[in-house]
Amino acid sequence: MEIISLKNVSKAFGGVIAVNNVSMGFYSGKITGLIGPNGAGKTTIFNLISGLIKVDKGRIYFKGENITNLHPWEISKKGIGRLFQDIRVFKKLTVLENVILGEYNPAEYPYNILFKFKEIKKIEKENREKAIELIKFVGLEGKENTPAENLSYGQQKLLSLARLLMGKYEVLLMDEPTAGVHPDIVKKLIELMKEMAKSGKTIIFIEHNMNIVSEIADWLFFLKEGEVYDMGKPEDILGDEEIRRIYMGIGNAKT
Ligand SMILES: Nc1ncnc2c1ncn2[C@@H]1O[C@H](COP(=O)(O)OP(=O)(O)OP(=O)(O)O)[C@@H](O)[C@H]1O
Ligand SMILES: [Mg+2]
Repeated sequence: MEIISLKNVSKAFGGVIAVNNVSMGFYSGKITGLIGPNGAGKTTIFNLISGLIKVDKGRIYFKGENITNLHPWEISKKGIGRLFQDIRVFKKLTVLENVILGEYNPAEYPYNILFKFKEIKKIEKENREKAIELIKFVGLEGKENTPAENLSYGQQKLLSLARLLMGKYEVLLMDEPTAGVHPDIVKKLIELMKEMAKSGKTIIFIEHNMNIVSEIADWLFFLKEGEVYDMGKPEDILGDEEIRRIYMGIGNAKT
């Protein structure tokens, strides 16, 4: 099933057409990669799906519902979460506090004050247990009480992921999750992405490392100058000479 679909979506910034009449569909429970040269429009597509910027033309559907130009918090509430390329953790807070905050959604608790004390305590306890479980899942066990700023860059990415998972999203948009991360943590991230997909989450990721792409993606979209230039299974896309030439600067076999 297509969980997210873009229909003829366009977005321009001044004179720059960042996304040009793009139609694409993302399958539920699969890992789909967006690849393509710098400036191809990959991050802009994530920004459009998550409502951070407005679509000029076209429509975006989530499970058949038109979500075009809803507010970011509305889209997030529907079940689409986002892992940003830059790390967004609260540096002074501990690992555990950061993960627990991933659950915090003011819209869900408008009548907090009316909640019985006991119920609040129960929710807090459940959130704490869930957070501890997720910290373990991403491999940060033992660091629960460490301030986020004391973690390495890669560990902070894992922490961001744990926090994202606290949000119980169905779809995860991950913008270059492995960029700048130590190879050991890249391995861990790959393993986690596979496990998340196995547990039913839909993963859409942007990635420049073709080894990673070919290892985990079920399907690829190759973007170029704001358009879908090609799509297919990783072996077909990455094996295509034209794409190799455009993307990796690798000439044809004869040169
Ligand atoms: N907020 C913005 N304001 C103006 N121009 C923008 C904005 N966001 C993106 N662009 C432009 O839109 C085009 C597509 O950018 P985008 O960030 O989507 O590319 P990308 O494929 O993610 O590239 P990279 O691989 O370098 O991250 C680029 O020309 C970029 O300069
Ligand atoms: Mg980008």
